[in-house]
Amino acid sequence: MSSQKTPKRYGWNTPVTAIGPQGGSMLRSIKKITSDPLNYLEATWSEFGDVVQFPIPKPATYLVSSPEGAREVLVNQHNQTSKKTLQYNNLSLVTGEGLLTADTQAWRPRRRMLQPAFHKEMIALSEHHIKAGLAKLDAQWTELTSEESAIVDIDHAMMSLALEITCGALFGIDVDEEVDEITAATLTALHGVVARARNPVSIPLIFPTPANLRMKRAIKRLDKAVDAILTSRENNQLPDQAPIRDMLDVLLDPDLETPLTKQQIRDEIATFIVAGHETVASALTWAWHLLVTNPTELQKLKADPTRAQLVFDESLRLYPPAWVITRRTLTDLIVDEVLIPTNSLVIVSPWLVHRNPKAWESPNTFMPDRFQAGAPQLGYLPFGAGARLCIGKEMARLEGAQILAHIASHWNIEAIHTSAVPIDASVTLRPVSGMPVRISRLLD
Ligand code: HEM
Repeated sequence: MSSQKTPKRYGWNTPVTAIGPQGGSMLRSIKKITSDPLNYLEATWSEFGDVVQFPIPKPATYLVSSPEGAREVLVNQHNQTSKKTLQYNNLSLVTGEGLLTADTQAWRPRRRMLQPAFHKEMIALSEHHIKAGLAKLDAQWTELTSEESAIVDIDHAMMSLALEITCGALFGIDVDEEVDEITAATLTALHGVVARARNPVSIPLIFPTPANLRMKRAIKRLDKAVDAILTSRENNQLPDQAPIRDMLDVLLDPDLETPLTKQQIRDEIATFIVAGHETVASALTWAWHLLVTNPTELQKLKADPTRAQLVFDESLRLYPPAWVITRRTLTDLIVDEVLIPTNSLVIVSPWLVHRNPKAWESPNTFMPDRFQAGAPQLGYLPFGAGARLCIGKEMARLEGAQILAHIASHWNIEAIHTSAVPIDASVTLRPVSGMPVRISRLLD
């Protein structure tokens, strides 16, 4: 660890309260920060420790990577923080003021309203859509491998499967024909979000730059998907067709104390499309990567598919799809004995916390068995923590485990890449050029 740098002000009266890189060194690293942010964060953490202040004048910006520090920010001091950060402001260009980006006042009643949509029956309904999605995948792969083994992009397969399950379980619709278009629109829109977050001078969306036009087209495509979801419900209003109240029923409920406006309904549907499928797909893609590069673990899973939950939870540790969580401080906070002043940006990176030896033994090793005793209280936050914990956590864990168990029991999956798979750290973690694997059917 470097020794403490002499305190000085970065400008705009920003005090220096923690150690961190100097301005010149950060400027020289700009290319690295944009091309390989995970590596940069890891290097910064290993040089300066669990609470780092970046040489940024406004807002004062901190990276918190200890298990206790993460808990302090996300759980204990939740009421002293806000989601008004660059990350969430940019995301709201796509999701509007939906549950994920809404700030405390708007968020609280909305969470109370939407939580019942994730009741036991709804989780059971997800199981039905998981099975249907897997049956379709089996049929597609069987056709592809009728003569011999085939190479498929498992990242693309997981994206389509997760989108079908999300739209089926939450909104009762079949997106069969449009699946590629909607996943592509989601990815383009989210890439736009990240590009804007990384560019200190993003040009407002109303100006027709090529990047802005691409992003607007993608948002329009997502809006079209939202319209299709609403029209499909209008045309299928027979109550006995949907005995279980799904997310759409809750959003459209006319008996709500304050029924939602059209815009609010649109924002929630877009939020759940975006938050509910790319995250799960990313987690599954990296789970397959870990399994094919650790064949003993893959064999153990094939022999005992009930291990799938351990594998999924451990994959989320090493490749947390939501690799950064940001908050704005509303008061001065003390985190790991460091003062983080009011109005600072705090970055908590599950990628780093999950690699912190204070919480994990051999943190860089893929060891699903470490979850035999359940997830630890501290140091594991793939779904966030505290009041803003992911609302889809149980659905995602069920999807993840069932999909891994099913595919491992019915298919041979082999790695075809020989070198490391580069990571595109976008809104979630994605392989830069997909994840091709060789598949062949296992004899029943
Ligand atoms: C492996 C899959 C998933 C991961 C890794 C994940 C991760 C996260 C994380 C880290 C947060 C907290 C963000 C913060 O504190 O700032 C979050 C919130 C959220 N997630 Fe997930 N998520 C996953 C799946 C899902 C699914 C399946 C859905 C919907 C069906 C969903 C919907 C949401 C929503 C709406 C929020 C905002 C909750 C609130 O603030 O009240 N997520 N997710």
